[in-house]
Amino acid sequence: MRTQVGIIGAGPAGLLLSHLLHLRGISSVVLEKRSRDYVERRVRAGVLEQGTVDTLVEAGVGERMLREGLPHHGIELRYGGAGHRIAFDKLVPGRSITVYGQQEVVKDLIAARLAAGGDVRFEVEDVELHALESQPYLTFGGERLDCDVIAGCDGFHGVSRPAVPEGVLSVFERDYPFAWLGILARVAPSSEELIYARTERGFALHSMRSPAVSRFYLQVPADARLDDWPDERIWEELRTRLETVPGFTLATGEIMERGITPMRGFVTEPMQYGRLYLAGDAAHIVPPTGAKGLNLAVADVRVLTEALAAYFGSGSTELLDGYSDACLKRVWRAQHFSWWMTTLLHTFEEDDPYARKLQLSYLDYVTSSEAAATTLAENYVGLPFEPGR
Ligand code: APR
Ligand code: PHB
Repeated sequence: MRTQVGIIGAGPAGLLLSHLLHLRGISSVVLEKRSRDYVERRVRAGVLEQGTVDTLVEAGVGERMLREGLPHHGIELRYGGAGHRIAFDKLVPGRSITVYGQQEVVKDLIAARLAAGGDVRFEVEDVELHALESQPYLTFGGERLDCDVIAGCDGFHGVSRPAVPEGVLSVFERDYPFAWLGILARVAPSSEELIYARTERGFALHSMRSPAVSRFYLQVPADARLDDWPDERIWEELRTRLETVPGFTLATGEIMERGITPMRGFVTEPMQYGRLYLAGDAAHIVPPTGAKGLNLAVADVRVLTEALAAYFGSGSTELLDGYSDACLKRVWRAQHFSWWMTTLLHTFEEDDPYARKLQLSYLDYVTSSEAAATTLAENYVGLPFEPGR
């Protein structure tokens, strides 16, 4: 079997890449180890930057997102007994975010690939990468797929990054001493906008998925276990951290899904080796406070699509050679923003009273200075894509 681009992983990165390549007349095969049902149900983040929304619409896969997604023109920072709105509409006019679950994006992309006769294989076993320096091929479940190039879109725990010989990649990482406990609940959101709450007991986030479904996160210790968090405890803690301003009451409901996510920043450099190109979580992850993970994956895939279109069109490897450098600027901006949002809003055990005063002073600055608030807003809605990126 042969294809132009062998893609490992049917997350947002792999599926969007396959779709964008198809629009350029480039063939691909997507190999995913999980079932279709599993990837379509996996609950992840849900904030789409303006550029991500534009990319999906331009690619013809934005119809349901435009219908069902929730456009947001601001977020609230809540601390010290008051809420403070960061108004995107005023600070970065014309730019906003859309709340639409990542698994909905995945469903739309799978549907589009299958409708176009795309080759997406689920429950594929034992994918291995070979001959990355010359004529690459993939093996899986007793089959062989020859490719011109391989795209490693298999997330943080995939097989692509470890297939690069030792010593080639440099890794930069930061572990945080806490995690996020996330729940999806069958209850109408208690607020129209997302609430990022900083309290002495830790961070809490109120988000949503639809007029009837809310999403919440709690900062918990890094070694927290779901068994220690029965429903009652989760709601009580959410109430304590969110019901801190006059007149705000948290509506509660049935918890449909729950999970604990470690908080980590991670970047590998370069994001390529031989004929292997890494995209999305396979190359970098961010703590979720800035909601950048999915958006960075989309940005990588845009760059890779342009580079592959040039390569298959004219044989030029210039853009492919520059793929990693072209992506890493944005990757590091998002790393910094995610680290900044995380340190601004979470409690760190090692913080002394001086550090807490500094954090509160910084929050006051961000919520009172237009310049500081604009920095937050501009990064949150996402920096524009450079031409061709
Ligand atoms: N073989 C085949 N598929 C694999 C393998 C493997 N060995 N290992 C992992 N996969 C699959 C996973 O099952 C998953 O479906 O690769 C896919 C990777 O998808 P994601 O983890 O969603 O990563 P990505 O597509 O880069 O999306 C970016 O945005 O919100 C963030 O972290 C969040 O997943 C999100 C990311
Ligand atoms: C979400 O809705 O899942 C979400 C929102 C904002 C974040 C992270 C996750 O910063």
